[in-house]
Order: sequence, then C-alpha cells, then structure tokens
Amino acid sequence: MVRTVVEALRHALTRLPDLPSARADAEELVSRLLGMGRGGVLLDRERALVPAEVERLESWLTRRAAGEPVQYITGRAAFRGLDLAVNPSVLVPRPETEGLVEAVLDVLRAEAERWRAPRVLDLGTGSGAIALAIAAEYPAAVVAASDASEAALATAEENANALGLSARVRFARGDWFGAVGGDERFEVVVSNPPYVATGEWDLLPDDVRRFEPQQALFSGATGLEALREIVDDAPLHLVAGGLLALELAEMRAGAASRCSTISPDARACCSPGASAAPRSRRCSGRRRGSRGN
Ligand SMILES: C[S@@+](CC[C@H](N)C(=O)[O-])C[C@H]1O[C@@H](n2cnc3c(N)ncnc32)[C@H](O)[C@@H]1O
Repeated sequence: MVRTVVEALRHALTRLPDLPSARADAEELVSRLLGMGRGGVLLDRERALVPAEVERLESWLTRRAAGEPVQYITGRAAFRGLDLAVNPSVLVPRPETEGLVEAVLDVLRAEAERWRAPRVLDLGTGSGAIALAIAAEYPAAVVAASDASEAALATAEENANALGLSARVRFARGDWFGAVGGDERFEVVVSNPPYVATGEWDLLPDDVRRFEPQQALFSGATGLEALREIVDDAPLHLVAGGLLALELAEMRAGAASRCSTISPDARACCSPGASAAPRSRRCSGRRRGSRGN
C-alpha cells in the first residue's frame, strides 16, 4: 500500500529492480509527480499521496519498467539549470551537450570586447536546449534557432515562452542553413546534428532506438551527411573569425576534418557526443585543420 512519499519511493524501487538508475529514476518520477523537487521528496517523506497520484505513479512505473526514458514519461528534462518540456518529437538533451554550450560560452566571454551583441545560430535545435541555455546565460547574445521538424520547433518555442526568452530567440523552420537568409552571418554557429549511420541501428541502446526521434539520430549511410552539409555551408554564414561549434562522435572526427571547408580565419570547436560510437576529445578555438585530437 502506497500512502506517503517514502512508501512511494520504496515501491518504485521494487518496480524497477533491473535498472541501474532505479534510485535516481524513482526520486525523479515521484518528485515530478508531486511537483516537489528532488530535495523535497527526501525531506518531506511523510507527505501523503491522494489515490489519483498513486494511480498515476503506477502507470509511470509501468512505462519506465518497459524502458521508456524518464524524461518522456514526466515530459520534463533538466539542461544547464533550465527545466525544459520534452516529448517524443525531440531528443532528450544530454549532459554531453552541456559541455558544447560551455565551450561556446567560453569563446563568447573571451570575445566580449569584439562581439558586443554576438549573433548565435543553433542548427537542429530540438527542444531548444542549446539556444535557450546560451540566451539565458549570455544575455548579450542575439540567438536564432532552427529545425527541420515542425513539432520540434513548436516544443522549442514553448520552452522559450515558458522561460521568458521568446523575445531574445528567433525560431525558423528549414533544412540546416536553409532556415536563415542566404546572406545572413553569425559570430557563432553551433549544432548537435544527427551523427549515427543507418547501419549502426543495432549499436544504439534499446531505449534510444525505441523512443527517440529517428530524425534526431540518423544521418545517412555514413552518419556524416548532416555534418558535411553544415561544415560545407558554414563559411557562407560565419563572420570572419567566427566559431563553428559541433558535437560529434569520435569515429566521425577524422572524416569530419577531411570534409571541413571552414574558411581560413574561422574556428572549429568539437565537443564529445554520446553515441554508440566512442567519443572524440574536445578541441576548442583551433584554426582550420587543427582538431586537437
Ligand atoms: C541530435 S538532435 C539535437 C537536438 C538539440 N539541439 C539537442 O542538442 O538536444 C538533432 C536535431 O536536428 C534536427 N534535424 C535533423 N535533420 C535536419 C535538417 N536537415 N535540417 C535541420 N534540422 C534537422 C532534428 O529534428 C533534431 O532536432
């Protein structure tokens, strides 16, 4: 019988016995269910649950036990201190991508004198995680975000509104740079593009395969198609000395540097991504051809 928070947590653990993340999942599900925050469920252990909450918890635990990511069940994901709405039309933002944002912020801070109101473009914005984190943490930035998916863009716009950032982030739908004007330039272009090859389907974790949007994961037979398009067109949309910041998997890093056509005075910055493939090391603020690996 589940009557209190502490009983709900205990019960959740018994329903998720095979998951290494069972304890964290239980705390996240119960705290989101009750709108308490993770600290709240640990402190207010005797708070009573009403029958509707117990019923909802049961259905959430059934979904989690079947492999569905916690974030799709609760509809929320944390990213660099932001609380974002997520749904199956967007990738669940990853901790690795927080590092990509940090790399961009480092460059923006270093260039603050030269770039007073830096224009930043986030390609393939999904939930809006990268664009919104940059807008929130670097108020001088003028941010644009694009995606090919209408449903993803609607989610990103919903997040911008909820966070009070909609006046500072412009959204556009389209195929990579096709979403912005042909002659529009940016100080920073950042992207976490899809980079899994279609043949790598079997290597992906089961929950990723079953629940995350394929458009966010796969990029043709080589896994490089999106990367190539972005890298090839970046020189047309970066200012002199601008930054192209990408997340990619290590097994793509060699091919990525070969397909690089970044203009001589542009900089490329690559951040390690999560995938079935091993990760690349980070390189930051390097000139063309120098990937720091
Ligand atoms: C790996 S997800 C990244 C989502 C988000 N930026 C993040 O880091 O959590 C890649 C995103 O690229 C979008 N995408 C895929 N193909 C695209 C294309 N041809 N043009 C623009 N966006 C595309 C997907 O819809 C997806 O939202």
